[in-house]
Amino acid sequence: MFINMRRFRKCHLRLIVTFFTTLLIMVNWENIDNKILTHVKSYTYRYLHNSFQFINTSFRVSPAEAIRYSNHKYLLNHDKKCGAKDILLLIFVKSSSQNFERRHAIRTTWGNEVYVENTLGVTIKVLFALGVHPEQKKRKIIRQQLILENQKYKDLIQQDFIDTFHNLTLKLLLQLSWKESYCRHANFFMSTDDDVFIHIPNLIRYLQQIARSDNKNLWIGRVHRGSPPVRDKTSKYYVSQDMYSWLSYPDYTPGSGYVLSKDVATKIYQASRTLNASLHIDDVFLGICAKIMDISPKDHVFFSGEGKAHYHCCIYNQMMTSHGHVSDIYELWGRVTDPEACQMSSGLFSRLYCTLVKVRLLCVPFWSYSYPCNAAFV
Ligand SMILES: *[C@@H]1O[C@H](CO)[C@@H](O)[C@H](O)[C@H]1NC(C)=O
Ligand SMILES: *[C@@H]1O[C@H](CO)[C@@H](O)[C@H](O)[C@H]1NC(C)=O
Ligand SMILES: *[C@@H]1O[C@H](CO)[C@@H](O)[C@H](O)[C@H]1NC(C)=O
Repeated sequence: MFINMRRFRKCHLRLIVTFFTTLLIMVNWENIDNKILTHVKSYTYRYLHNSFQFINTSFRVSPAEAIRYSNHKYLLNHDKKCGAKDILLLIFVKSSSQNFERRHAIRTTWGNEVYVENTLGVTIKVLFALGVHPEQKKRKIIRQQLILENQKYKDLIQQDFIDTFHNLTLKLLLQLSWKESYCRHANFFMSTDDDVFIHIPNLIRYLQQIARSDNKNLWIGRVHRGSPPVRDKTSKYYVSQDMYSWLSYPDYTPGSGYVLSKDVATKIYQASRTLNASLHIDDVFLGICAKIMDISPKDHVFFSGEGKAHYHCCIYNQMMTSHGHVSDIYELWGRVTDPEACQMSSGLFSRLYCTLVKVRLLCVPFWSYSYPCNAAFV
């Protein structure tokens, strides 16, 4: 009797859980179904059809039209910043006028040009790309603060477009055309955000290796393949059918961090001068430019997507970028540059140990947004 009662209760519980799960799925079915369907369609488009011919016909505009997107006036500029020196890497950090603290944090940590010169023996240049503050009332006071900041650090590049999410493509054009005009000889170009941590020693070592063999035709980052345009009007990534009517975007790397070799940067710049740049998603627009020039991105698992990297030595050894750092940037920089903090031998045992640690950190479904599971095995 007692056992039966327990069994009955267990059975009951199971029924209730099943009932509510089914209810939840039914209520959300339209959403889930839509999402799955959209992704299936966009993947099919990307992997079976994979022709982006329409770009040629739909996005081309006359050079006179195209230039209207990029002929904004410089309000702050440093045309001699690169000079004639041999430069390995030019980094543009997309920032907003009011983010003084974030810029300061970057200058004193991973973006410290002097540190890189002294400890890694290469020259890099780090600049901040800015537009004009969207609120008219605040513009004057912020302008004065920017002028002071710029006198001190000489690293702000500002144009006279309004600095909003929907103008990010204009900011991309600023970066590309600045590189082309004033720093064409820099071997690599990188674009990133002011809440991204870059493991500059790892990145420099990696780029030096590439530069030694063949530093051409490189476009590297976390590659998004077969992503569908977002049609949800409440999302900031919403793109209308008029603006982009196809099922899938060409392959692209998220704007939080990617690197181009100088030949690729030039080609993408040239393509951008022939296209309609009103698509405001800057990284997708770069993907469109690249597609026109027949350039494909290379995936690197240690360029982060949306999430923050885990604090662990086994991750520090390989990380390139990590997204979402503001207050902890000093601490993280301290950890990755402290020679004592992460001493690891290169033996079989420590490699095995790190693989296990990374599997535990990265191979948890729906949990790890930093690096993909296969990053555990490289
Ligand atoms: C687009 O057109 C140009 C010439 O107008 C051609 O060189 C290029 O291969 C075309 N690209 C694609 C993806 O069809
Ligand atoms: C982008 O900048 C231009 C030039 O300042 C401005 O006219 C336009 O309103 C801005 N667009 C958005 C969406 O902020
Ligand atoms: C550029 O694209 C936008 C959005 O699709 C469109 O409204 C605009 O007319 C296009 N501009 C040109 C010059 O074709």
